[in-house]
Amino acid sequence: MSVLVVYESMFGNTKAVAEAVADGLRDALAQRGDGIELTLQEVTDAPESVPDDVTLVVLGAPTHAFSMSRASTREDALKKAQTTDAARRTTGVREWIAAALLPPRTTVVTFDTKIMKPLTGSAAKSATKALHGRGFLDVERGESFGVADTPGPLLDGELERARAWGAALVARV
Ligand SMILES: Cc1cc2nc3c(=O)[nH]c(=O)nc-3n(C[C@H](O)[C@H](O)[C@H](O)COP(=O)(O)O)c2cc1C
Repeated sequence: MSVLVVYESMFGNTKAVAEAVADGLRDALAQRGDGIELTLQEVTDAPESVPDDVTLVVLGAPTHAFSMSRASTREDALKKAQTTDAARRTTGVREWIAAALLPPRTTVVTFDTKIMKPLTGSAAKSATKALHGRGFLDVERGESFGVADTPGPLLDGELERARAWGAALVARV
């Protein structure tokens, strides 16, 4: 069995949360001592065909325009971040979900980063809906983690919360 943590990130905030979630979960798995491996991958490198031994996918995305990113919002973000990464422009969590092939008994838990104000939407909520739309039933909307503004930084305490949330996901493996 193994765990896959996949994230999309333009300014590095969702990446930092994904790393903290992965650290917490990896430590919790090591304490349990059953040899389950964890892999952390940016969505542009993640396999669309998820290997058969993966029983949990943790999927994180930045909230763009109330939802998951699209090519147009990524273009905007890449300009603001002053980077020109062609893979990041074409592939985000939305595109990964549209193409993903998951083993039958794989659980997916989503998370996002967002501005923690009313009516700002949630990529985790949209990703959960899109996965259900693809026919994947064992999908849970996980946590949202707050950024102060579009480029960040993460709000105080969010990395610690992400690590603790990751550790608690051990119950899903
Ligand atoms: C084009 C664009 C649209 C955004 N729209 C929203 C939004 O609707 N709601 C929200 O909470 N945050 C929104 N944000 C802020 C992002 O959620 C924030 O940039 C992201 O969490 C940072 O994550 P990253 O560093 O991993 O890219 C938007 C950001 C960009 C670049």
